[in-house]
Amino acid sequence: MLHSPIIAPSLLASDHANLAASARAAEQAGATWLHLDIMDGHFAPNLTFGPETLASLRRAGVKLFFDTHLMLDEPHRYIEPFAQAGANHISIHIEPAYDHRGTLARIRELGCQCGLVVNPGTPATTIEALLGEVDLVLVMTVQPGFGGQAFRRDMLPKLKEIDRWRRDRRLKFRLEVDGGIDLATGAECRAAGADTFVVGTSFYGASDKAALAVGMAKM
Ligand code: DX5
Ligand code: ZN
Repeated sequence: MLHSPIIAPSLLASDHANLAASARAAEQAGATWLHLDIMDGHFAPNLTFGPETLASLRRAGVKLFFDTHLMLDEPHRYIEPFAQAGANHISIHIEPAYDHRGTLARIRELGCQCGLVVNPGTPATTIEALLGEVDLVLVMTVQPGFGGQAFRRDMLPKLKEIDRWRRDRRLKFRLEVDGGIDLATGAECRAAGADTFVVGTSFYGASDKAALAVGMAKM
């Protein structure tokens, strides 16, 4: 395996009246990443956070690596504000029409890592030509919009396909999964090549978050 497992607790599944405390709970459980789901009500049928939320978390002393997942029709318009607000990584979807390559380059120019995301209905071939330009590929294992949905096992072949390209081309990007991930589904994704695991409901619903984090680190 190229990379050891990383978990990225998803703030979407936490108490939104206490986001800083929720971020601290992730830190205390031993997580080093925090997943931030940004939705505009167009690309995904929900509304969540904006750059000010990230900036506020930074001001509150949260040091986690901010893994920012932009589910936006026009993500290229929001790269600067998220980078300035404290994002460490910004992932953009392949589905909307905009300059994907230029936007990935801009994310890196601003000092962040960059990633590409594919929805369940989007074939891996849509991102194949851009794999050399990214630090991470995110394979959605649910349709974006809401936490707590059932894991899409039919995404496992897509993970294997991307992992095979990664090995054949000696690329080093991380392979992340998002949606319905827990210890059991995470292990299935790990076996298919994933190394980075977004955990929303399974993490914030767990009574022993540190035990979940330790279990997933051993996958
Ligand atoms: C779905 C979001 C996910 C979500 C995952 O649109 O991108 O990050 O928070 O939540 P769970 O882990 O509950 O499926
Ligand atoms: Zn996400």
